[in-house]
Amino acid sequence: MSDDSYVRIFDTTLRDGEQSPGATLDTEAKIEIAHQLARMGVDVIEAGFPAASPGDLEAVKRAASEVGTAKGPIIAGLCRAHPPDIDACWEAVSPAAKPRIHTFIATSDIHLEHKLRMTREQVLAKVSEMVAYARQHCADIEFSAEDASRTDPTYLYEVFAAAVEAGATTLNVPDTVGYIQPAEYGELIRGMFKHVPGIEKCIVSVHCHDDLGFATANTLAGLQAGARQAECTINGIGERAGNASLEEIVMSLRTRPNYYNLKTGIDSTHLVRSSHLVSTRTGISVPPNKAIVGANAFAHEAGIHQDGVIKYAETYEIMTPETVGLAQSHLVLGKHSGRHALRMRLEEIGFELHGEEQLDRIFQRFKRYADARKEVTEAELEAIAADEIHQSEDLYVLHGVHVSCGVPSIPTASVSITRPDGEYETLAATGTGPVDAIFTAVNRICRLDVELREYVVHAVSGGIDTLGEVTVRIRSKDEAPRTFSGHGTDADILVASAKAYLSALNKLARAALRKKQDTGAASAEAVA
Ligand code: KIV
Ligand code: ZN
Repeated sequence: MSDDSYVRIFDTTLRDGEQSPGATLDTEAKIEIAHQLARMGVDVIEAGFPAASPGDLEAVKRAASEVGTAKGPIIAGLCRAHPPDIDACWEAVSPAAKPRIHTFIATSDIHLEHKLRMTREQVLAKVSEMVAYARQHCADIEFSAEDASRTDPTYLYEVFAAAVEAGATTLNVPDTVGYIQPAEYGELIRGMFKHVPGIEKCIVSVHCHDDLGFATANTLAGLQAGARQAECTINGIGERAGNASLEEIVMSLRTRPNYYNLKTGIDSTHLVRSSHLVSTRTGISVPPNKAIVGANAFAHEAGIHQDGVIKYAETYEIMTPETVGLAQSHLVLGKHSGRHALRMRLEEIGFELHGEEQLDRIFQRFKRYADARKEVTEAELEAIAADEIHQSEDLYVLHGVHVSCGVPSIPTASVSITRPDGEYETLAATGTGPVDAIFTAVNRICRLDVELREYVVHAVSGGIDTLGEVTVRIRSKDEAPRTFSGHGTDADILVASAKAYLSALNKLARAALRKKQDTGAASAEAVA
């Protein structure tokens, strides 16, 4: 893409975003998100950090082969500037039609002295050596100078010059700790074009964190200063206070075209769906007042605002809800719609169906739901399909939930589940409320020791008769505690709660199984 006004959107939801506390995503969820990012039109997907674990490597490899098609986005993997990390990264991204190795090393004196214990000269030499090493594998190399914003600019430009000479094609300038201010960051980026020989062959990239609330502002300042790649995440999730938010950057450029004179390849009507997918899969809720995708982003409460919007929307609306994909009341199907129409609609909204049996299950569920209503909205259809698809991959399978509660009574739940060993069990438990009773019964059947960290209920389409969507976060209570999120949808919120809880337990069980398999493979290798 040679158009100088084109900004490449580099999405790092699956890497930096996944570094948000508690945002662990399993491979299936990563692939689902990667497909949605590709549909939305991102230019680069940073699919993970392959050297972190065999599971991470596998997930990046799957994204590379399933999403990184010739017409799809570039698939990047992150790696430290070490040969084994670079090799693992290449192994993972090489199945993509357009693979990228993204390698980094810290350059600030604080990091050199206290973390790397290396001199500036040593880091400089390593940059040349490792970028050249990565370049032997791949023609598309991104180099990042970690903590660039706190690095002496003269030294920073020297480091980038070494990276260009060694073959880097994208130079990324991270504000790793969210410290810099917009005008300063603009200056730093402008300096790249003055002080880095060979810069004209490269794309300058911006990567900002939100510790002081400036991630989007800094990103936009960097783009105004000449950067043409923006690194960001859906909903702005990421380390600590998060990364720059994709939807804010995209909609700023789109809403203020005369101010920025920049464009992206993003289809903004996918923003709300992407936001919802990432929030349900990571278990990180979107605050109602979040710009662009928050539940209140287009809600007008004050009478004077409502009056203005009714008379002329632009009085208080700078973007329309439709541009970001907020057309919830949009009728998709009714109770007379057939299997064929359902399949077509599901494919249109981005579901890849695997086999007739899966379609049958979604169809049965859709029929039951549609029978009780006149119409099913796109959001509801999406929730039903996602729920069915995820349940089919469960190790613990939910067969039934029955609850008795009210006042006065002791809330009691009876739950039926099949365990991974194929054993079917029904067990009853009491609790402080119906949800507590359900979770206690599930815990007893699954025999997993966890602590509930978060429980959120949300109505899919608004209105009392819509689906309830529950997200839970649990933390394992073993020697290396990890957080998992789960997600369940049903017209009955108690059933949705049981599904969400079991889906989190399933993720925990799958992670434990993977760990066991990885350890088994490692000891088999050691024996060989
Ligand atoms: O914030 C950061 O510095 C990063 C780099 C590794 C790109 O995420
Ligand atoms: Zn980062």
